[in-house]
Order: sequence, then C-alpha cells, then structure tokens
Amino acid sequence: MIALGADHGGYELKEAIKKHLEESGVPYIDCGTSSPESVDYAPIAKKTCEKVVSGECEKAILCCGTGIGISMAANKVKGIRAACCSDYFSAKLTRQHNDANALCMGGRVVGVGLALELVDVFLNTEFEGGRHQRRIDQIAEIENS
Ligand code: RB5
Repeated sequence: MIALGADHGGYELKEAIKKHLEESGVPYIDCGTSSPESVDYAPIAKKTCEKVVSGECEKAILCCGTGIGISMAANKVKGIRAACCSDYFSAKLTRQHNDANALCMGGRVVGVGLALELVDVFLNTEFEGGRHQRRIDQIAEIENS
C-alpha cells in the first residue's frame, strides 16, 4: 500500500500518479488534497507520512510545487526518510543507499512522464543494507537525540 499526498502545486501530478498506480495494480491511499485549490503542504505531509510510520503503508509519494517544502515537512515525521528527486539516478540511489521511504517531487519541476519513471524505480528498487544500514542508524540517532 502506498500513501499519496500533495498540495495544490502537486495536485495534478498526484492525480497522474494515481492513474499510473491503478494501471500498474499498485494499491494506494490518497491523503489529499482533493482539488487544485490552495492548501498548506505541511499537514498533508504529516497525514501521509503517518500512514507509513504506522505500518499501514509501505512508502509515501508526496508532491508539491517544487517537492521541497513537502519533503522538509515529511522529514520532520519520526521514522521518515524523504528524498526530493527530479532525476532517475537519485530516485534509484535513495532506495539503494538511504532506504528512503518517501519520494517527493515537484509538480512544477518534473513532467508527468519523468515523474512516473521516478515512481517506478523508487517503488521497485531494494535497499542494499550493509554499510548503508550503519549510516541510516546514524540518521536515526540524530533523530532521537
Ligand atoms: C505553493 O505555492 C508552493 O510553495 C508549494 O507547493 C511548494 O513548492 C513549497 O515548497
């Protein structure tokens, strides 16, 4: 199960991602927003990321205008490792090396075609573990300090 969230700047991209997930047979929960009207991104990031830390969802995909604000908010939720990506390599490596559990993208930055490629590689790439686990643990130590 994937948790989806967006503000107005990412609304259209989120809708395109929903359609793509439906076509791919990937179940999701839409945490809003549900229209292009202006809305603040931080509460949506919180609501969406809570689905991941509770275990209800495996990963989150978040969209705002740039992907930046919503990633900043997502990273304040304990247990979330959110990566703002606009290229394929980063979306892949943030899974392999950072075990990112939230992908953030900017609806005003990436086109739909690229965004769907980023979604697919993010959802289908495994964490490599090993030395990277130690580094993830160090991030968690900062979070808990
Ligand atoms: C909203 O206008 C915009 O600021 C927001 O979507 C996002 O880009 C913030 O980082």
